[in-house]
Amino acid sequence: MTRDGSEPRAVAAQAAQAVLDRGRALDTVLPALLEGLGDSRDRSLARRLASGALRDWPALDWLVGALVDKPLKGRNRQLHFLLAVALHELRDGREPDHAIVHAAVAAARCLRGQRLTGLVNGVLRAFGRRRGELLASLPDTPVLRFGYPGWLIKRVESDYGDAAPGILAAGNEPPPLWLRVNRRRIARDDYRELLERAGIEADAPAGFPDALRLAERAAISALPGFEDGLVSVQDGAAQFAADYLDLRDGQRVLDACAAPGGKTAHILERRDVGLTALDIDGERLSRVGNGLERLGLDARLVAGDAARPDDWWDGKRFDRILVDAPCSATGVIRRHPDIRWLRRDEDIDRLAALQGTILDALWPLLEPGGILVYATCSLLRVENDEQARAFLERHADARGIDNTDMPGRPARPGRQILPGEHGCDGFYYFAARRLPE
Ligand SMILES: C[S@@+](CC[C@H](N)C(=O)[O-])C[C@H]1O[C@@H](n2cnc3c(N)ncnc32)[C@H](O)[C@@H]1O
Repeated sequence: MTRDGSEPRAVAAQAAQAVLDRGRALDTVLPALLEGLGDSRDRSLARRLASGALRDWPALDWLVGALVDKPLKGRNRQLHFLLAVALHELRDGREPDHAIVHAAVAAARCLRGQRLTGLVNGVLRAFGRRRGELLASLPDTPVLRFGYPGWLIKRVESDYGDAAPGILAAGNEPPPLWLRVNRRRIARDDYRELLERAGIEADAPAGFPDALRLAERAAISALPGFEDGLVSVQDGAAQFAADYLDLRDGQRVLDACAAPGGKTAHILERRDVGLTALDIDGERLSRVGNGLERLGLDARLVAGDAARPDDWWDGKRFDRILVDAPCSATGVIRRHPDIRWLRRDEDIDRLAALQGTILDALWPLLEPGGILVYATCSLLRVENDEQARAFLERHADARGIDNTDMPGRPARPGRQILPGEHGCDGFYYFAARRLPE
């Protein structure tokens, strides 16, 4: 840990600024920034503070605005973010106030030199003195209350009514770490024992045959046998895809939006199938190859557009097709707090149209009697139930498969899993069988 705690705070401020001012994804900017931090505790603190500031951005932004005499502009805008990170820490209360102020002042020195350290010190001390009054005067708007942009709050309210506040709040809870055990290599209970021996506590939730859920977050490097392919990190809800596909050995399977390959690998761990992993993004597709190599699995990797099968399809139909579609990712906001600030309202209808185009382009590639599974990590009905309903209306030879044979699932095609349900991310699944010709 750095002696003055400055570096993780400076990194958190830079990461938050990259997301909010430059529209960069946190997962893209953070790794490079974290490289400069030698200590793993500093890295996890920087990650926690950046995520926390993004979750609570509207209130923090308002507080900084209320505390500074004039807006911090140009290169000094970095300090606006640093102050927001420090205010988040002061509200969170995990460290004594004086330690937080001291670290923030040192971070200001790191970022902008000695000149504005007095301002940072003064603002944070003023917050300490006026805390009650300032927090009481925070505007009581949905944006500040929930920490989401207004357009997204409106969409969730319109889709879910009275349940919306709980759903939005669940998106602000830090997620648990889920693992998927590679049962080709080790039984789930045996891997759980390995974890226990390494001092990592996990439970094996019912209804998730390959999953373990950790009681506390752990570094990947601490997971026994990770490099040897015993285990992968994958949310519980993402593990339903393999169930919905209802796989048999020997089938031809298309994973149409495959990268980075979590579901590809799960399918291959489950059954001996001939799998084509397609993705439009060649660079992301290479991550599928790396993951499969670690797990001792193999697939045909194809870089191509799922909406244009004529460019890559060999003309042999598939028994199973998984469309894990590009989506708003509004179901995984608790894991990626930047998503709410990076997405725009107008993206949603564009994504829904693309999902429909991909589904229509791939449907003829399915063998009669075969199953197509459509998945999103979205909460929004326009990408989920409405997408499935419109698909069934367009394709007379498609029958939605209901969920009755899936334990605890309602008897209708399509299932929305809400964030936090069974400790999972928000996900949606819809399965359809192609009727014989
Ligand atoms: C939700 S992610 C898939 C996650 C992956 N199935 C997994 O479990 O790890 C969606 C993927 O769709 C890809 N994609 C977007 N548009 C596509 C298209 N038109 N054709 C094929 N892939 C596409 C993106 O590059 C991205 O990798």
